[in-house]
Amino acid sequence: MRGMTKPGQIVNVMKEERCFPPPAEFAAKARVGSLAEYEALWNEANHDLEGFWGKAAHELHWFKPYTKVLEWNEPFAQWFVDGQTNVSYNCLDAHLSSPRRNKPALIWVGEPGDVRIYTYQMLHREVCKFANVLKGQGIEKGDVVALYMPMVPELAIAMLACARIGAIHSVVFGGFAAEAIAERNRNAGAKLMITADGGWRRGRQIALKANVDAALAKSPTVQKCIVCRRTGSQVAMQPGRDLWWDELMEQAPADCPAVPLDSETPLFILYTSGSTGKPKGILHTTAGYNLFAKKTMEWVFDIRDEDAYWCTADIGWITGHTYVVYGPLTAGATSFMYEGAPDWPHRGRWWEMVEKHRITILYTAPTAIRACIQWGDQWVDKYDLSSLRLLGSVGEGINPEAWMWYHRKIGRERCPIVDTWWQTETGGIMMTPLPGAIATKPGSCTKPLPGIVPQVVGKDHQPVSAGAGGWLTIARPWPGMLRGIWGDDARYKLQYWSQVPHKYLCGDNARCDEDGYYWIMGRIDDVLNVAGHRLSTIEIESALVSHPAVAEAAAVGRPHEVKGESVAVFVTLSSGFEPTEALRQELKGHVRKEIGALAVPDDIHFTVALPKTRSGKIMRRLLRDIAAGRETAGDTSTLEDHSVLARLRAEEE
Ligand code: WT7
Repeated sequence: MRGMTKPGQIVNVMKEERCFPPPAEFAAKARVGSLAEYEALWNEANHDLEGFWGKAAHELHWFKPYTKVLEWNEPFAQWFVDGQTNVSYNCLDAHLSSPRRNKPALIWVGEPGDVRIYTYQMLHREVCKFANVLKGQGIEKGDVVALYMPMVPELAIAMLACARIGAIHSVVFGGFAAEAIAERNRNAGAKLMITADGGWRRGRQIALKANVDAALAKSPTVQKCIVCRRTGSQVAMQPGRDLWWDELMEQAPADCPAVPLDSETPLFILYTSGSTGKPKGILHTTAGYNLFAKKTMEWVFDIRDEDAYWCTADIGWITGHTYVVYGPLTAGATSFMYEGAPDWPHRGRWWEMVEKHRITILYTAPTAIRACIQWGDQWVDKYDLSSLRLLGSVGEGINPEAWMWYHRKIGRERCPIVDTWWQTETGGIMMTPLPGAIATKPGSCTKPLPGIVPQVVGKDHQPVSAGAGGWLTIARPWPGMLRGIWGDDARYKLQYWSQVPHKYLCGDNARCDEDGYYWIMGRIDDVLNVAGHRLSTIEIESALVSHPAVAEAAAVGRPHEVKGESVAVFVTLSSGFEPTEALRQELKGHVRKEIGALAVPDDIHFTVALPKTRSGKIMRRLLRDIAAGRETAGDTSTLEDHSVLARLRAEEE
């Protein structure tokens, strides 16, 4: 085992020595083109944080200049005090006086194959009209508008229309059920709801409006509901409450100037699940969020006017907010958007679209990459992926072998991979390799962006030494940081600012190696404690995934009389492999060889599917209960597919 650790620290057992320098051709053209340039930027920001962000903020449009960059009353931040700007203006109007006016802002593909393209000018017009629709329905600055929609352009249009007039949007992912919508509506005090008659998913229609009807019966603050036509299916319209999007738009004037808004005007609420109990409404505001979205978009994706950039995330998640809508549009990029499932009508659908639309940058999640590996290379090999120049990953740690597959199969060993670590709370990317500047190591999110100061601390709240695991904290405020939990300051303080004094506690474990590279080790709550050694989930899982038979793995602790906890793992197999006792023994031997005896699982459960959140993260909390033979406790509303739990239980019998 590597390194000496103090009690309470997490042992690092992952061995990863591969390192990939930025391709010379990429670095030559990149905004940040060398390690020295990156370090100079980071040092500049660290030396004078306010000066650094203050200078960057000149890139936004200001109706009224700010007088102070940061007002920090821990844990409450105000960025760009006294200034007035407008996110919708920065995303749209700002480009209309340049040749970008006629450039595609959105290229949208529906699951059935329909395509719609909006230039900046066209998108501006739609947003202005819809902002007038909202005003016509009595929506004013500070009102909350709830959005429950498929991945259609109207979702982005509605968000930008809210931003234009100072209304606050609350997007609820289209996979949530009525009760979850209603709970969020009540918590936010939403006044208006926007939905669609349906959406397409694997050739079937998702009945969004029916869910909304059930939700609105329990959402007393919602007065009106605007329904966008997508599938053309029959829906019940409640007279006096429900209105058709297209009918309202027909009458709406196209003139609607962006309202000058104070920097800290709330922009949106986005609910994220706590590990237990009721969802937290993460609050983001106007100027700081917008600036952070723009700068991270430019640094991390090195975005250029000629790019066809595709972030596959649903807009219902923070990744979609920041990197489908606000980041790309503020940066004047072309954002590609797809409505449907990656495996419909066939498992090569994504790669077919990459070929057809000559996608240059692809940003997706490890769960999708692992699914593609499981489906087999033949789906990828059929298509020409030579347009790609940069790949990204987000949402979970990416196991080094999945990283290698992404690098070889999708990137054809030409494209840098940006493994981006961040959270709903951080608003934008915090740590990632700048693709022209920082050499990548599979499984590491590498280094912090300029202005971001991470620190790994031990139980004594002091920074730990290189190589040792501990709690990941952020030591200084940044413009994209959450401004609070909607309506619950006490929970905001308790959750993020009470355990480690004066630092933002993000809830992940991490370690920083001798080269200053960060390795995320998983959620604090998921740590295993075997015979006094604290092990992280990702390391055991990555060892398993490096075996050809294993497609996905989840490691959890199970109570053990002697060791405290023993390691239990749940694995799904790649196509062509059978769950046998011989394979079970082989996998144990593999973990012993890769990590050591300490991490060898006592139990290996073969399963056909792992329980995941609707955003694709493995829910280890539920597996812990199953491994221990307990009833599953706690909130399961974020579980994507409830039948997975039932199946896991059946497999145990
Ligand atoms: C949590 C945040 C970031 C937007 C999408 C998810 C995990 C996220 C990585 C990564 C390892 C990662 C962390 C984090 N996570 N990205 N690159 N490597 N872990 O946002 O739902 O708020 O989840 O996702 O545990 O805290 P979110």
